[in-house]
Amino acid sequence: AKILVLNGPNLNLLGTREPEVYGYTTLADIQAMLEAQATASGHSLDFFQSNAEHLLVERIHQARTEKVDFVLINPAAFTHTSVAIRDALSGVAIPFIEVHLSNVHKREPFRHHSYFSDVAVGVICGLGAQGYSLALQAALSMLERD
Ligand code: DQA
Repeated sequence: AKILVLNGPNLNLLGTREPEVYGYTTLADIQAMLEAQATASGHSLDFFQSNAEHLLVERIHQARTEKVDFVLINPAAFTHTSVAIRDALSGVAIPFIEVHLSNVHKREPFRHHSYFSDVAVGVICGLGAQGYSLALQAALSMLERD
């Protein structure tokens, strides 16, 4: 299967960005971990980070052309603002899991609402970098089931 992992704004700073909130793992570490996990089970994985909303929208459109089977997305701050990225995911009709490093529900009230959760297959938050790995494991087992 083809998996696409998308990361939104400021996640390129992981490792040095508010490490008490987001941990010391870098985005490159997360990418390497997920690539190893996907290839070990015979799947392919693409990884894309952008600070720009329109580039994430366009990468999602491209995913349909590439016949991506499943998306893992940490929309970062766009979680709480972006109808455009939500609509892109609904538009391409590719199932996705929403991932957050931090537990957004024990943070500021503006982080409690997500434009993605009600259209996601599932949501993982508060488990740090491990959350991506658990999301990939869930996606692969769902894809292998059908
Ligand atoms: C985040 C949570 C968001 O509220 C925040 O804007 C981020 C990262 C997380 O992974 O915990 O940039 O998505």
